[in-house]
This record gives sequence, C-alpha cells and structure tokens, in this order.
Amino acid sequence: MRILLLGANGQVGHALREALPALGELACATRGGRLSDGTSCERADFDQPDALAPLIARVAPDIVVNAAAYTAVDRAEDDREAAYRINAEAPGVLAAACARRGALLVHYSTDYVFDGRGTRPYREDDSAAPLGVYGASKLAGEQAVRAAGGRHMILRTAWVYGLHGHNFLRSILRLAGERDELRVVDDQIGTPTSAGLVARTTGTLLTQQLRRSGTWHLAARGETSWHGLAVSIVEHAHARGMLDRIPKVAPVASSEYPSRASRPAYSCLDSGLLQREFLTPLPCWQDDLARVFDTEHGRRG
Ligand SMILES: NC(=O)c1ccc[n+]([C@@H]2O[C@H](COP(=O)([O-])OP(=O)(O)OC[C@H]3O[C@@H](n4cnc5c(N)ncnc54)[C@H](OP(=O)(O)O)[C@@H]3O)[C@@H](O)[C@H]2O)c1
Repeated sequence: MRILLLGANGQVGHALREALPALGELACATRGGRLSDGTSCERADFDQPDALAPLIARVAPDIVVNAAAYTAVDRAEDDREAAYRINAEAPGVLAAACARRGALLVHYSTDYVFDGRGTRPYREDDSAAPLGVYGASKLAGEQAVRAAGGRHMILRTAWVYGLHGHNFLRSILRLAGERDELRVVDDQIGTPTSAGLVARTTGTLLTQQLRRSGTWHLAARGETSWHGLAVSIVEHAHARGMLDRIPKVAPVASSEYPSRASRPAYSCLDSGLLQREFLTPLPCWQDDLARVFDTEHGRRG
C-alpha cells in the first residue's frame, strides 16, 4: 500500500511520519520539498492547487493523508484569500484527484467550525457555525472534500499540541523558563489533544479499512481551559526536571487578551462515534499529556 502524506513538517504531519510507515510505503510532501531534517521529499505547495493533481497522478497513492493547512487563526482574518485557497480550494482539488483514482483521502478539520455556544461536547451532526475566517475556511474544505464524491475520512480534532512545531505546550514551556508568573485565559474550554494521539489513532483507523466515508471527531476525552492545560504542563515539566521551579499561573479572562479572531468559548468534541465504530478507546487529555512528557523523558534518557 502506498501512502502520500501532505504537510509532513507540521505538528500532526511530523507525528504521522512515525505512525504511518507501519502501514505501507510512505511518500512525504512539504511546501518546499524538504523535511525538517533537511532531507528532500515531494513538493506540494497548497498555494498552487493546480499542481496537486499531477503530484497525485505521479505518486499514485492508495491513501492520501492531508495534514497541511493554514492554521494561523488570527492572521487568517486579514488573509482570507490564502486561508480559503489552502484550507478549501486545495483540499477540493486533492479530493477530486483522489476520487478519479479511487484513493482514500484522510483530511483533518477543526473544533473551530463550531460557534462555542453548545453546552455539551459537539457531535459530528451538530450544526457548524464558525466564528472566524480560519474555521469558515476549514468548513469550506470539509464541504469540498465531501462534494468531490470520492472515499474520504474527515477527522475533526482540537487544541493540538506536541513537542514539535509551534503550539501552546512549547510556548508555555518557553515562557515558564523566562518568567515568574504566566497569565493564561480560563474562559475558553476545549479538549487538548496531542499530535501523537491524532497520528496514532489515524494509523489505527487506516488498518481497519472501513468502507464508509464520513466525518469523525478525534480528540482526547474530558475538558479543560487553556489555564488548566498550562498548570498541568508546568507541573509535568517540573516533575521531570525540565523546569527548575514552577511559576505562578494566573487565570485571566479572554477580554484581557484581545485577539484579531473570535474563538469559541466552548469547543469540546464528543469522539464517541469514532470510539464505537472503530473500537478504539481514546485517553483522557491528562493521560495523553502525561504520555507526551513520558515519551520525551524516555528520549532524553
Ligand atoms: N493546531 C491545532 O490546534 C489544530 C486544532 C484543530 C484542528 N487542527 C487541524 O489539524 C491539521 C494539522 O494541523 P497542525 O496542528 O499539524 O498544523 P501546523 O503545525 O500549523 O502544520 C500545518 C502544516 O501545513 C503546512 N502548510 C501551510 N501552508 C501551506 C502551503 N501553502 N502549502 C503546503 N503546506 C502548507 C505548513 O507548512 P510549513 O511547515 O512550511 O509552514 C505546516 O507544515 C490541520 O488540518 C488543522 O487545521 C489543528
């Protein structure tokens, strides 16, 4: 089985480079044609959607996993055209190319397709109503993938972090090393999910060869605020000697940190459908976080 991974240098893409080789022959593609370690790979620039179909025809994959996306939530508000080109137009071109050759497309989407006014974790069939350009462009991408009519799996995930790339965990670790006090918002509630969990679960789903196309939520269980996540991160880092002291982590309201894009106040995802249909239990976010630190600790010896 031949798999083409797009966006191989992103957080999820990086983790998929570890999870996917067990399933078959893996070809990686990045925007510039190089992996983060400098090795050359296929080039797939989503700013040029027309170049994607020839790539699919040449690599001839059985499965395409698309982890590339325009993920700068605030910047997207002023960069609407690029966000839609990368998050909607390019996935539509990919999905059509996959449909033509009967390949399965795995495509990631986001909790930010919801407006955050819900009172229980969002299910796949709850109405989407994105608050900002990023969420709207990702929703348009979902619709383009479905409309192409080929085999697809749309996996919506949330609050992705890991020890690679730009993300909340890395920002908190950096700031905790520099400051005595961190101020972190406590009025946005969601489900932190490690890039490793997204990648490993994707691998598990692909081994099951489900014939049905569809949309599934893929997030850890439970919920917390960014503040709650930050507290857990500094505690884990301190316990493993990555920080020499625990800084104070003060809860603050989002209104104290005005940002360009509005974000949902509550965007927990209910991943029950995925767990039932694929018989794949997902961990609570605390265990997922602990595993990320344990793995890094193990690597450092
Ligand atoms: N991060 C989150 O909290 C979160 C939450 C929910 C859902 N998701 C979804 O999960 C998926 C993976 O996200 P992630 O967290 O791994 O994002 P990420 O770390 O920001 O990685 C995104 C990747 O997309 C690539 N990319 C951006 N523009 C591109 C272009 N024009 N052509 C080719 N590649 C381009 C980036 O390439 P460069 O390395 O060259 O910049 C980067 O490697 C995305 O679909 C995202 O929407 C993420």
